[in-house]
Amino acid sequence: MIAIGSFVLLIALALATPAPAADPAASLADQCVQCHGRDGRSTDPRIPNLAGQPSDYLVAQLWDFRKRRFVSDNPYWRAERRDPTMNHEATDLGDDAIEDLAAHFSRLSCGPAPNDDLPAPPQAAAGCAVCHGGRGIGAEPMVPNLAGQNARYLAIQMRNFGDAASVQRGAGGAKRRTHPSIASPATVVAESDVESLAAYYAALPCR
Ligand code: HEC
Ligand code: HEC
Repeated sequence: MIAIGSFVLLIALALATPAPAADPAASLADQCVQCHGRDGRSTDPRIPNLAGQPSDYLVAQLWDFRKRRFVSDNPYWRAERRDPTMNHEATDLGDDAIEDLAAHFSRLSCGPAPNDDLPAPPQAAAGCAVCHGGRGIGAEPMVPNLAGQNARYLAIQMRNFGDAASVQRGAGGAKRRTHPSIASPATVVAESDVESLAAYYAALPCR
């Protein structure tokens, strides 16, 4: 009788023990990994690594991609982001899916340091440190880490911000990515600095 009682108790305990919480984004992320990598690290240099980026930053980017339409006469200098691939990917993502995906990729490890010798910063990096940190790790949740990101991707984004700023100046451009902190004419990265800054940040350890 005692044996049966403890057997029943064991089953009751087993049923009451919750299964380990499933990552709600694991299956959602299947549609992202062909480009961003299962581990959140992309092998295509034009596609960003997502692993280890601040979750709030990733949420903001997916919102900006989902907006799709660029409002050219927008009276406010709002953040917007145009990229045909990601505008398409984000179209059908609900708010919860965006939160879950951002948390999922943010939790992944951004990987080992690319090398032991820290490269010397180019002079132009002095102007980036206030937001992106001395070593490319942003201190604020809405500021992306640049350290360890793909160099080619970083260069593309600097030019995208530059394009947006030239639209703001009325000087043409495709206006692919706007953000009040970085895409104003005053903060555009000079073309002569783009490649050295991209190479520098890509070579820094992301942790
Ligand atoms: C077909 C390839 C492809 C797929 C699939 C894809 N992405 Fe992307 N993703 C890109 C490219 C290319 C960029 C860079 C866009 C640009 O240049 O602005 C990007 C950029 C991003 C960024 C911005 C990162 C940063 O550092 O600013 C986020 C966040 C992102 N993708 C999330 C996702 C999520 C989540 C999914 C799945 C729902 C997904 N992507 C699916 C190609 C893809
Ligand atoms: C005033 C703060 C500030 C300064 C200064 C600043 N940035 Fe940024 N940067 C940001 C913010 C905020 C974002 C994210 C914008 C968004 O949400 O679209 C960003 C985004 C970027 C991105 C895109 C990264 C990605 O993952 O897509 C690059 C590249 C970048 N900054 C490079 C630079 C460089 C290089 C400098 C110095 C020449 C610099 N930034 C100076 C605030 C700043």
